[in-house]
Amino acid sequence: MATLLEMRGIGKSFPGVRALDQVNLTVETGEIHAICGENGAGKSTLMKVLSGVYPHGSYEGEIVYEGQALALRGIRDSEERGIIIIHQELALVPLLSIAENMFLGHEVARRGVISWPRAYQAAEGWLRKVGLSEPPSAIVGKLGVGKQQLIEIAKALAKDVRLLILDEPTAALQENDSQKLLDLMLELKAQGVTQIIISHKLNEISRVADRITVLRDGSTVSTIDRGQISEDRIISDMVGRDMAHRYPERVPAVGEVLLEVEGWNVWHPEQADRQMIRDAAFTVRKGEIVGIAGLMGTGRTELAMSLFGRSYGRGHQGRVRMGGREVDVSTVPKAIAAGISYVTEDRKALGLVLEEPILKNISLANLAGIAVKGILDKRREARVAEDYRRALAIRTPGVQQKVVNLSGGNQQKVVLAKWLYTDPQVLILDEPTRGIDVGAKYEIYSIMNDLAAQGRGVVMISSEMPELLGMCDRIYVMNEGRIVGELSREEASQERIMAMILRTTGKAA
Ligand SMILES: Nc1ncnc2c1ncn2[C@@H]1O[C@H](COP(=O)(O)OP(=O)(O)OP(=O)(O)O)[C@@H](O)[C@H]1O
Ligand SMILES: [Mg+2]
Repeated sequence: MATLLEMRGIGKSFPGVRALDQVNLTVETGEIHAICGENGAGKSTLMKVLSGVYPHGSYEGEIVYEGQALALRGIRDSEERGIIIIHQELALVPLLSIAENMFLGHEVARRGVISWPRAYQAAEGWLRKVGLSEPPSAIVGKLGVGKQQLIEIAKALAKDVRLLILDEPTAALQENDSQKLLDLMLELKAQGVTQIIISHKLNEISRVADRITVLRDGSTVSTIDRGQISEDRIISDMVGRDMAHRYPERVPAVGEVLLEVEGWNVWHPEQADRQMIRDAAFTVRKGEIVGIAGLMGTGRTELAMSLFGRSYGRGHQGRVRMGGREVDVSTVPKAIAAGISYVTEDRKALGLVLEEPILKNISLANLAGIAVKGILDKRREARVAEDYRRALAIRTPGVQQKVVNLSGGNQQKVVLAKWLYTDPQVLILDEPTRGIDVGAKYEIYSIMNDLAAQGRGVVMISSEMPELLGMCDRIYVMNEGRIVGELSREEASQERIMAMILRTTGKAA
């Protein structure tokens, strides 16, 4: 096989951070090459060097592509050579249509004017190819993250790609969409498209990758060949030691009922007759970790957000009790005061102010905590942030760092810190480990266990069934806006959860 790409001795520094140091990466023509590493290991940075986001001269080392030295001035240069990157944080414009997103800046143009009829037709073809049935005129912001990811891929395909770089493409996708995407990757490979994939989902990597390069602390640790690939090997290369358990040990000490939700009904924010949550009822006990399973789009996030200060939906009905007393959760401050907090799945849109430093983000939801006599105490603000930085092992040179400069996984930890600082009795975590490496997942699981051990209630919404089964004392299964079943830790299994979902699909009154 011929070598398509060689990156030699790549180094890259940011103020206070040596993100890459002496990284080597060789990619053969036609292969799927995976890059693994813990959060902050330098994976995204390496791909930004390769795609011209960081231009020639802003990094050390050399890149040879198709036998020629590559000195990119920007992302346009790399796209001209067929190198196309799909970034970890999606970059579609929510208010525009799919076709507009696909072709703006890359026109199906005649004399610089976009021919929209042709653009829509072309878009349609690429959408079908990635398995989407939406019309090209659909507004992107109304589609879920999963579909937006597929649109990104369709967009890349439209650009005559030769080296496709996917930075955590399945992080936001549910199981069957992920499988479709991986199939698509294999299909593209058969058509000769070389691909680089970054992912924390080791089972997926094992499935599609021909070779894996592991980064640790900004340097190459190893390149593993197809025959040698195993999850244990990847993990031990990533973290530098063997990890015996994926879930921290815990002896549950479940107490009395803390949160009780009864007859909870919520309607769609725009379509008045569309009911999104139907008569939901559930409880969370002190010291308990409760899971909510279900497919994407079944109302798990809507349920959580509607309870958290009516952040979602309209026409809310139902009762919420904390410790036996009815509480008012009609606004976010009231929900927080009642002891409920919610860690969003969509950290970019809802959880963080990216341009602000870590310390501002952490105290955002509890400014009273860092105020003395009504005046913001900067020293306390810094100390609180520093405590969380240490407790959650947020990898950063300091809490003054802007959140936008953190790696994806470390951003997630900042969101978590922000809501932990509101001192909730019940913490609802929505996909808390999405895009998080195995080591950091373990840390987040440990934090959940600690919260439970303190007698708090933890609710975990997750699309990763093994994680729900590994962590939860009890699991509610949601489907089509209803809670359709409940399983104890002993009863719960992937098959049972799926069976409950299938049995109740299309049966809603
Ligand atoms: N623009 C930037 N300014 C300052 N530091 C940065 C910047 N971009 C990345 N870093 C730092 O460089 C290191 C590598 O980050 P990178 O985003 O490449 O990690 P990653 O391996 O992609 O992690 P993840 O799995 O969490 O996405 C991190 O310590 C990060 O905080
Ligand atoms: Mg990254």
